[in-house]
Amino acid sequence: NNYAILMAGGVGSRFWPVSTQEFPKQFHDMLGTGETLIQRTFSRLSNIIPEENIFILTNKRYNDLVFEQLPKVTKRQVVLEPAMRNTAPCILFAALKIQKENPNAVMIVAPSDHWIEDEAAFTENVQQAFDFCASKNALMTLGIKPTFPNTGYGYIEYNKTTNEEIKSVNQFREKPDYETAKSFLKQGNFLWNAGIFMWSVNSVLEAFQYNQPELFSLFEKGIDVYNTDFEDDFVRDNYGKAENISVDYAIMEKSNNVYVLPATFDWNDLGTWGSLYDKIDEGKGNNAVVNARLLSMDSCGNMIYSEKEKIVVIEDLKDFIIVDKDEVLLIFPKEKEQDIKALRKNVSDKF
Ligand code: GDD
Ligand code: MG
Repeated sequence: NNYAILMAGGVGSRFWPVSTQEFPKQFHDMLGTGETLIQRTFSRLSNIIPEENIFILTNKRYNDLVFEQLPKVTKRQVVLEPAMRNTAPCILFAALKIQKENPNAVMIVAPSDHWIEDEAAFTENVQQAFDFCASKNALMTLGIKPTFPNTGYGYIEYNKTTNEEIKSVNQFREKPDYETAKSFLKQGNFLWNAGIFMWSVNSVLEAFQYNQPELFSLFEKGIDVYNTDFEDDFVRDNYGKAENISVDYAIMEKSNNVYVLPATFDWNDLGTWGSLYDKIDEGKGNNAVVNARLLSMDSCGNMIYSEKEKIVVIEDLKDFIIVDKDEVLLIFPKEKEQDIKALRKNVSDKF
């Protein structure tokens, strides 16, 4: 009864200029391990989920990339979205498909672009969550101990009176402003949302039906053709009508049956250049360098990424992101990295 959906339709715009509309970061080997992020995610999931029960949801423009990078996957397992509508529509659509195939299914929703090293701990956490969801109407997430007031994450306030490993959640708050995030950290009983969700198909569909009735009825209308040859036609004609909204705002913030399991593995969502820096530097406070040879006497905290092997010379520079790729050279203070996404909009999608 175990299923997974792998979300691979984002463009990773805060990782520009390496992650682009045509070739987003989930299809890159960002850390030089020999495998792309989506390949690693697929193999991590296949420890717990039969491979044929892993579905991949992505934009239709990434069709070739998916089949090239995951050659074992069949057409049945891939949903190609004709338009970008964020995570709520894709999760709802997949849950309806899976429920039709197996009404007792329990599923995990996994982003395709995260870094998780300890596969054994990941498997153990997911198994524990699956056991919980199988018998309870619960929306479960994995929580990460926060280290700074990051405004790019969802925050989970858990009930501190419980000694259970799986904790009930008082409040789920997506991407708070900086001051709010700071106060959350001070209070102590907050975790970051890892963006990895687990639930029974019945529980998540109930949450969508209750909180997003319009979206629910749009996709429920097509249920007769799901998992048939006519599914593609339905998707082509209807997917674009869905509201653009993330699952965090659509159901997680609104539900009162949310539970969190604090993850026991190291996690990095590789969401920004700063997170890649943290992953490579491991708290040493040096420079993180990919594909370059750095010449410098007094520089630290810099993330330096070059597409081609290159000697990079800097001096007295601290906490900057330097990325050299084809036509684009980016030099940006690390503390303002969230702004890369907005600035990127000023150039055409081909960059
Ligand atoms: N199929 C599909 N279609 N996938 C999508 C789409 C879409 O339209 N949009 C985004 N995705 C995929 C991305 O590729 C990524 O793997 C995942 O969904 C999450 O989207 P992000 O855009 O990366 O979300 P986020 O990082 O802003 O926030 C989420 O993740 C954080 C942790 O990394 C939220 O769940 C936060 O609460 C969470 O803290
Ligand atoms: Mg992300």
